[in-house]
Amino acid sequence: MKHFIDISNFQLKKIDSIIKTAKQIKRNPKSFSNKCKNKTLGMIFQKDSTRTRASFTVGFQKLGGNTLELNTKSIGFGKRESVEDILRTLAQFIDILVIRNDNHELLKKLSALNALPIINGLTDMSHPCQILSDMLTINEKIGNIKNKQITWVGDYNNVLRSLIELQILYNFKLNVVLPKEILKKNKTEINKHNNKQMFVTNSLMDGVKYADCVMTDAWVSMGEKLTKKKYFKNYQVNSKLMQFASKEAIFMHCLPAHRGEEVSSELLDSKRSVVWHQAQNRMFVQQAIVLELL
Ligand code: CP
Ligand code: NVA
Repeated sequence: MKHFIDISNFQLKKIDSIIKTAKQIKRNPKSFSNKCKNKTLGMIFQKDSTRTRASFTVGFQKLGGNTLELNTKSIGFGKRESVEDILRTLAQFIDILVIRNDNHELLKKLSALNALPIINGLTDMSHPCQILSDMLTINEKIGNIKNKQITWVGDYNNVLRSLIELQILYNFKLNVVLPKEILKKNKTEINKHNNKQMFVTNSLMDGVKYADCVMTDAWVSMGEKLTKKKYFKNYQVNSKLMQFASKEAIFMHCLPAHRGEEVSSELLDSKRSVVWHQAQNRMFVQQAIVLELL
């Protein structure tokens, strides 16, 4: 059985083919409108979500399928019976399941049950749907990611981990700008993945210089302590910083954005910003992921 848990589980060829399908769906949605007829996509969100929830729901419906969101409180997720038994039950009715939670290991354990295909809708460790659709956005906005210099500014978090997995696959130039406290805390993991094309620094200027795309995310991810914010005070991405990037550089953010913190409002609303395009592409890429798994 196929699952979509992490980018690192896939070969480059498979990722390319998912992106290709996403482009086809985007170009000609009508020809895909029956592909998931009589199928049901389930969703369990243990953390907040706007984009993932809306894009999976609408996306699956546009493929002709039905969706069912199970409220974790109403089903007593992890309380009334084992999570494994909930999954075995759901597999009797639904065909594919999106889970967002704070426990990546549990997600892996659940997928190993092979009760039904599982899609990672974000965990504490990764956000593969986001990064895959960001790759489509990059391809559409500035061209093949393989020839681009991408800069990440902010935390060492789930989204960055997925970006690094993509970088390892495509070997593009990736600059990772982290405050020194965050760098120190994640040194072992960073060293494990470091490669010739990856440059890790705490200097904003060095990291952003000549970038074709600058990405950021919340300083503090869902479920984390707010005290972490203090490390990021000097790490806002704004138009002034973007001047060090290449002339045509784009700004990306998976959203939700915290205006005035990791990004200035003026940059988020500027021409360089492609954040709404990013949000839109979530749907096409996730439709392609669903088709791949089913
Ligand atoms: N980017 C993203 O996954 O958004 P949501 O948390 O709103 O789903
Ligand atoms: N890193 C963020 C991403 C939200 C889509 C979080 O986990 O809260």
